Amino acid sequence: MNEESKRKILRQIPYGLYVVGVKGKDSQHAFTGSWLSQCSMKPPCVMLGVRQGTHSLDLIKEGRVFSINFLAKGDRKVMEQFFKPVPASGNRFGDVSYTLRRTGAPILDRAVGFLECEVRQIVEAGDHSVVIGEVVEAEAVKEEPPLVMSDTPWHYGG
Ligand SMILES: Cc1cc2nc3c(=O)[nH]c(=O)nc-3n(C[C@H](O)[C@H](O)[C@H](O)COP(=O)(O)O)c2cc1C
Repeated sequence: MNEESKRKILRQIPYGLYVVGVKGKDSQHAFTGSWLSQCSMKPPCVMLGVRQGTHSLDLIKEGRVFSINFLAKGDRKVMEQFFKPVPASGNRFGDVSYTLRRTGAPILDRAVGFLECEVRQIVEAGDHSVVIGEVVEAEAVKEEPPLVMSDTPWHYGG
């Protein structure tokens, strides 16, 4: 296989961009995720690729829930904050406010829409795990198209 072609074609898969909220015992955390797809209609489920060895995957295994926050196209800086290294304070949210609802996974107050999911299965797939979650809550907060990968110069994978 040609390494260059593999990278190029894999990067042509269209992706969204989300702030994925997770929770520990008494804490909340979040990271930028893009490897998300619906994978069942009944029950409604999504699958999310999460890198092995991350704090986020540890918390997903511990808290067994996650949220998917869709942000407005103007919120690129906010999305960026959630893939940068966690600041010394240990709190990646900074002044980005959030609310806890049904699952306790953080819902950003500025989200244009969100899903809340309960983890049903975690499948190891190389350097990432596929986390399958059942959607237990969903809200379209604003009628606004969300920020997606193709709005940015970023990519993940390939
Ligand atoms: C554009 C973009 C998309 C990303 N998508 C994912 C993803 O789908 N899954 C993932 O595990 N990490 C993804 N990341 C990387 C995480 O956001 C990053 O590793 C983060 O620091 C993980 O947080 P943690 O180390 O605090 O758990 C992405 C990064 C960028 C820049």
